[in-house]
Amino acid sequence: MNNKAIGVFDSGLGGLTAVKELLKVLPHENIVYFGDTGRVPYGDKSQKTILKYALQDIEFLKSLDVKMILAACGTVSSTLDESAVKIDVPFTGVVKPTATAAANVTRNNRIGIIGTTATIKSGAYRRELLKINPHFQIFEQDCPLFVPLVENGFIESDNQATLIIAEKYLAGLRNHKIDTLIFGCTHYPIISEIISRVIGPEVRLVDSGREAAVFAANILRFSENLAERKTSGSCTFYVSDTVSSFSKNAELFLQQNVTSKVKMVDIEKYSPASFNEKFT
Ligand code: DGL
Repeated sequence: MNNKAIGVFDSGLGGLTAVKELLKVLPHENIVYFGDTGRVPYGDKSQKTILKYALQDIEFLKSLDVKMILAACGTVSSTLDESAVKIDVPFTGVVKPTATAAANVTRNNRIGIIGTTATIKSGAYRRELLKINPHFQIFEQDCPLFVPLVENGFIESDNQATLIIAEKYLAGLRNHKIDTLIFGCTHYPIISEIISRVIGPEVRLVDSGREAAVFAANILRFSENLAERKTSGSCTFYVSDTVSSFSKNAELFLQQNVTSKVKMVDIEKYSPASFNEKFT
């Protein structure tokens, strides 16, 4: 038994797709969430900047004494080499669980991946999929405007701006006869209805937030680190910019009142010991 909280982070709202699933599968767990709303989006930044932000986010969650950290961000997961940094807390990203799920879902071995520019450039999902099956045919597309659209609340299923942009991004993928599409960015499930309408209802969508949450839950279960089942868990949210816009969109997505549970944090204060050599 371990009643410490699970730490989850993302550049903004996207990691809530993992939180939503964690609340479902592990209702007794306490969760602390950090959304780096002051510095979103990550996906158009350099590798060095993404790494710097990721290490600060991790350091902040470690300061809250969490029992595990879930990087619910495709961009961070694709950029951070876990073996090259000392995290000291059980840690998972989204790439491996999502690639594994997609490999199980596809029937025709033709898999599409959409993600931020940094994620697609990194080739991380592609590498993971080809490790599972070298015969997979993989088609990738970066969709840099999706994150700002989600962060700005353009998320209703009939939102015309998001629909037009989705049509532009996904036209190429539609010609490749994929039967499975990986949401390589955790923001994208928030607009999954629009994406599904454009790519076609026959294409199975694989949600990286959801798959990573299931994977994290299994790590805790197998290592006997789940919380006691006595009480229901709590959720606390931290953001690096104003509380109000995050709260509004988070409430829409999670369908619960979160305003009183959202706090602001100065993320620039958090740096691991080795940070200065690497980034100054
Ligand atoms: N949710 C993040 C991801 O999964 C968004 C990255 C960004 O801020 O551009 O990639």
